[in-house]
Amino acid sequence: MFKVNCLNKIANVGLDLFTDNYQMVDNFNDANAVLVRSSSIHDLELPHSLDAIARAGAGVNNIPLDKCAERGIVVFNTPGANANGVKEMVIAALIIAARNIVGGVNWVNSCGADPEVAKLVEKNKSKFSGTEVKGKKLGVIGLGATGVLVANAANKLEMEVYGYDPFISVDAAWKLSKFIKHTKALEEIFRNCDFITVHIPLSDSTKGMFNKDTFAIMKDGVKILNFSRDTLVIDEDMIEALKSGKVHRYVTDFPNPNVCGVEGVITIPHLGASTSESEDNCAVMAVRQIMDYMENGNIKNS
Ligand code: MLT
Repeated sequence: MFKVNCLNKIANVGLDLFTDNYQMVDNFNDANAVLVRSSSIHDLELPHSLDAIARAGAGVNNIPLDKCAERGIVVFNTPGANANGVKEMVIAALIIAARNIVGGVNWVNSCGADPEVAKLVEKNKSKFSGTEVKGKKLGVIGLGATGVLVANAANKLEMEVYGYDPFISVDAAWKLSKFIKHTKALEEIFRNCDFITVHIPLSDSTKGMFNKDTFAIMKDGVKILNFSRDTLVIDEDMIEALKSGKVHRYVTDFPNPNVCGVEGVITIPHLGASTSESEDNCAVMAVRQIMDYMENGNIKNS
């Protein structure tokens, strides 16, 4: 009998796959396998019984990978399982960055139940004018499952899409999406694009990639979308760039007290993959990975 602990809510459609060989336990310290979404495991003592951790999501920065490697604990993630959910949210964010929807909605709510609201709107709405995305340049950093879906959707919105991926060659990337203008250097994205969206894992080499030096080469009024990880951005440098007008809007999926409330920042409470479909897909993939490993010793990240 294998004992499984869920550190976060995991969709039933996944949990229902566990056979009688598995028992769900409340205590992390008793577990042979752990399912996790966003909780951090860094500060937890890893129990001796633990053989596998599956993250129902793409990023694994909430898991102590080095400690797991030392201890022989296998770590899985579910690449691609929530990519469509994140893509749809990124497209919403793109439009939110281009049009002053959030400013307009906040303003109209502040009018309360004023009977003159329609007249007030006519007087004030020019303050909330925006731009269209058609014909604008979008830089997609990271051409994994989500990045490619975002690039395809943006192409359908008639944007000019530039792509960069540090891990795949331009030739390989070109096969993924022929309409993407594949760039060899990240700098080209920074220099050329009106909108930049980032879809790469957090690592020592990507941490802080949005900083005063990279902002300096970007177009004035660039709009940045971050659905990857908060610390890809240096907060003080982002605040400076927003104040100077270098960055017009920063839409982030990561609540961060340093930037929350700064003009131009639109914070979404980490909802990129929060759809029933994405949660179901991640749960099914994560549970299958655990079962295949516990029963057959197979290690498959798909
Ligand atoms: C991910 O890594 O896939 C995202 O953080 C989505 C999530 O789990 O909410």
